[in-house]
Amino acid sequence: MLEVADRPLQTDESPTTRASTPISLNAINRWVPHDIVMRDSWFPVAHNYSVTGKPVRRAIYSHPIFLWREDGVVVASEFHPNERIARDKSVYTDVKGHYPTMEHYGVVWVWFGNPQAADPVHLPSLPFLPPKGGLPKHMTATVRFESSAPISLENLIDLTHADFLHADVVGDERSDSETVETFYDSETVTMVRTLVNKSVAPVMKFFSGIRQPTQNVRQVIRIYLRSHCAIAYGQFNPGDDVPLFHPCTPETRDRTRMEMVMNTSNAGLMFRHVMPKAGYKVSRQDSYMTSPQSPRYMRHTDRKDLHSKFDQAGQRYRMAMMELAERQEKGDFAYRDNVSADCSDIIGLRKELFQF
Ligand SMILES: [Fe+2]
Repeated sequence: MLEVADRPLQTDESPTTRASTPISLNAINRWVPHDIVMRDSWFPVAHNYSVTGKPVRRAIYSHPIFLWREDGVVVASEFHPNERIARDKSVYTDVKGHYPTMEHYGVVWVWFGNPQAADPVHLPSLPFLPPKGGLPKHMTATVRFESSAPISLENLIDLTHADFLHADVVGDERSDSETVETFYDSETVTMVRTLVNKSVAPVMKFFSGIRQPTQNVRQVIRIYLRSHCAIAYGQFNPGDDVPLFHPCTPETRDRTRMEMVMNTSNAGLMFRHVMPKAGYKVSRQDSYMTSPQSPRYMRHTDRKDLHSKFDQAGQRYRMAMMELAERQEKGDFAYRDNVSADCSDIIGLRKELFQF
């Protein structure tokens, strides 16, 4: 087992102006997310109920993955069990052509990288999901984006987009004050957005019964760089908590699959049922933005990416991804920070609501 020390997170003041930063603002603006391939990571590929005795096909970076169960245990193979043609096996699987796989949080994970390095210690911490799964199906969904996975994640971590793109669901841009803070280590980037007296989210007006015109909001987006998994955790006061697992698994370099889980068990009856379904509407709105955007980032161009002060987290995300990719290119796949350490405190989880 690989020993990974727990290190304190670093706080971002101004990521792009620090002299010590090896990757410049210019490089960040010229990044080509389609060229980034992350190895030695667990990727979520299916809700556990989707995997039965009958094989289903998934992919990570265009590598086929067939999933089925034998005596209840998940098998992840690069070959269909009925495949008779002997093909060369990839370096990502064992002698039988099987990927390391595990079930956790109600999701099937596949290790993409050196099979010898697979270790549950590298599974992202998702403290609001029951470790053994079992949430009702209506709290889960599968959504696909016609975009490179990092483009989808970069869109997510710039949460100010929600006020404009998802105003009809989560409320508009009006508030008395707004702050955005960024925290990071070599494997994660976390953005905390705090708003005072924000216009009440319409979805809460109707389904949580909020009567006040405004609410105080704290939203967190935390991205696990390698696995392309994100947490979106919102606290609305008054209102309900919205704890969302938002993975962006790179099926190909320009297609993304999201096996979404929203644990609204603690919310009121209406909200508990309606909010997870809002994910379909919200993701269509995101797709409207990211699908045309994605091909524009496929190769180096002289485009000008402009940033506001609220883009700090997005810029840090690009920088951290590029640094990790650069290390991997040199053959360094070691984890310098622990991704499975409980992140409840970092995301400000109301732990009393999520006892498993
Ligand atoms: Fe969005």
